[in-house]
Amino acid sequence: MAKEIISVQGNNTLTGTVQISGAKNSALKLIAASILAQGRCVIRNVPCISDIDVMSEVLEVLGASVKRGDESDDEHTLVIDTSSIDSYETPYELVSKMRASISVLGPLIGRFGRALVAMPGGCQIGARKIDMHLRGLEALGVEFSIDHGYLTADAKEGLHGAHVVLDFPSVGATENLLMAAVVASGTTVIANAAREPEIVDLANMLNEMGAKVSDAGSSIVTVEGVELSSLHPCEHVTVGDRIEAGTFLVGGALTGGPLTVMNVSPDYLHMAIAKLREMGCMVRVGADWITVSREAKLLPVEIQTLPHPGFPTDLQAQFMLLAACAKGTSVITENVFENRFMFAAELARMGAEIVIEDHHAIVRGGRKLQGAPVSSTDLRAGAALVLAGIVAEGETRVHKIDHIDRGYENYVGKLRSLGAEITRGLPYPNHRHTVRIGTDI
Ligand code: EPZ
Repeated sequence: MAKEIISVQGNNTLTGTVQISGAKNSALKLIAASILAQGRCVIRNVPCISDIDVMSEVLEVLGASVKRGDESDDEHTLVIDTSSIDSYETPYELVSKMRASISVLGPLIGRFGRALVAMPGGCQIGARKIDMHLRGLEALGVEFSIDHGYLTADAKEGLHGAHVVLDFPSVGATENLLMAAVVASGTTVIANAAREPEIVDLANMLNEMGAKVSDAGSSIVTVEGVELSSLHPCEHVTVGDRIEAGTFLVGGALTGGPLTVMNVSPDYLHMAIAKLREMGCMVRVGADWITVSREAKLLPVEIQTLPHPGFPTDLQAQFMLLAACAKGTSVITENVFENRFMFAAELARMGAEIVIEDHHAIVRGGRKLQGAPVSSTDLRAGAALVLAGIVAEGETRVHKIDHIDRGYENYVGKLRSLGAEITRGLPYPNHRHTVRIGTDI
C-alpha cells in the first residue's frame, strides 16, 4: 500500500505568523504523570500528533479512559480518568511504536509498587539505553529483572528517598525518577538532573497534583515524598513546543522571513536564537513570540549539541540545513546521540557538501540545493528536509513522513499558511500501483 509523501516546490519564501503547538516532549510525560492521581486530569494545549495517540493508547491499555476535548476545547485538550486503571503492564506493541512509553515506568511504580514494561528498543538516532533510569530507580528501592524482553520492576519494601547522581543529565531518567520520588518516603535529591523546560513543566504539574518538587530546571532537584493518596488530579496547560518553534524559525532564517512564532517562550531558545544571530539573522522577541528575519547573507557557524541550556540536539538537522545554505565551512558536533547525522546523507542527495568525521559534520555551504526525492530518517530530519525543499531548485518529494506526523501537528498546513507551495498525498495517485480503497484488486 503506497504511503503518503510531501511534495514541495522550491525557490519559495516563508513569511507571516504561525501558532506553535504544545510541546510533544512535555505532553507525553504529563499524560504518564496523570497515572499517579486517581480521578480526572485535564491537560490542555496537547498537540494533535501520533505520539500522543500512542501514549493515550498506553493509558487505555492500563485501564484509564482518555478523551480528546472538553466543553471548552475540541481537540487540544485531553481528559484522562485514571480511576479505573487496573494494570501495570505496558505491551511491547506500544513501547516498540514509541520508546517514550518508558515514561510510564516511574508513575506505575509510584502507584502500584510494580511495573511490567517492554524494554524499549533503540531507534535510528541511537541505542537509547535506559541504564540511568534503572540505576536511579534501584536507589529508590526498586528491584528489576528482565525476562523475555520485558522489564519487571518491584518495590517490595516500598519506595524510599535517596541521593541519586546521574552520569549524564538524561531527560527521560530525570522524569522517571521524579515521578517515582514524589511518593517515596523521605527526601530524594537528583544531582546532575536534566534542565530542559519540559522537566520544569512536568514538575509544575506534579506540584499541582500535590507533590513537593523543588528546583526543577536546575541541576540539583529535591523531592519531598508525599503519600500516594494525597496526590489529586489537576488541570494543566502544556508549555509551547520550543523545537517546533525552532524548526519554523530556521524556515524564516533560510528564506529571509520575517517569520513569527507565537505561543512559545523565547527563554526556551536562548542558544538557538544566539546561533541565528551569529549566522546573520535579526531576531526580535516578546513574552510569547519570536520573529526572525534576514537581509544579509547567511554566515557559517560552529555548533555543539548539548543538554539544555546548551544547543538542542533536536534542532541539529535544521541548523545543518541552514549551514548548508551559508557560504563557507560550518562544523556541527553531535554530543548527545551517537548516530544523528543520517540527515546529512539525505541533504547530500540535494547537493549539500557535508563530510562526517566521527561526531563532527563539516558542512561546506553555499551551493544551491536541488530538489530531489528524499526520505525522513527521524522526525526532526524529516521536518528539515521539507524546509530544504522550500529553498531548493525544483520539486522535492519527502518520503516516510509518518516520522513528521509523530511530532509536528499540521506541518503542511502551517507551512502553506506561511506561503509554501506544498501538498501531501499518495506519490502516484493515478498510477496502477496505487491501491484504491474499495476497489477489487
Ligand atoms: C528526550 O529523549 C527527547 N524525547 C528527545 O527528543 C531529545 O532529543 C532528548 O530528550 C535529549 O534532549 C522525548 O522527550 C520523548 P536522554 P530521551 O535520556 O529522554 C543516553 C525528539 O526529536 N542515555 O536525555 O531519550 C541516550 O542514549 C526526540 O523529539 C543513556 O545512555 O533523551 C542518549 O544518547 C529525539 N542511558 C542521551 O543519553 C540512559 O539511561 C540522551 O538521552 C538514558 C539516556
